[in-house]
Amino acid sequence: MFIHPQYFVIALNMLMGWDATVFPRVDEFLPERWLRDRPMGNIHPYANIPFGAGPRMCVGRRVAEQEMYTLLTRVAQRFTVEYHHEDIELRVGLLAYPSRPLKFSFVSR
Ligand code: HEM
Repeated sequence: MFIHPQYFVIALNMLMGWDATVFPRVDEFLPERWLRDRPMGNIHPYANIPFGAGPRMCVGRRVAEQEMYTLLTRVAQRFTVEYHHEDIELRVGLLAYPSRPLKFSFVSR
């Protein structure tokens, strides 16, 4: 398949995610910024598009999101998750990945 360069568009999700003009207090872990009523102000609808956008966006989005919600909910219900090692940094290549092994401990509630 030939993709004409004129139509080749890449969304730099990591770059947008680190842009303080897009996400205020960008260096802080503030999950409440994603709450439905947007307590920290509106987020541009295209500021975070890990599944793409438009007619060719990911068809598996709902399946992927539902599986992640289910897994995280069930883990949080059953375990306290602990981490007692060095800080984990983000490495970015073709995909983003953690800088060291994720040695989490799952302690039964
Ligand atoms: C966290 C999980 C996933 C992420 C982040 C993801 C992300 C993406 C992205 C960025 C695209 C390209 C969208 C575009 O070109 O604008 C895509 C396409 C696609 N994804 Fe996913 N995806 C995920 C899971 C899945 C799953 C579970 C399925 C199948 C059940 C799936 C099936 C597809 C298909 C078939 C396409 C091609 C759609 C097309 O070209 O018309 N994906 N995905």
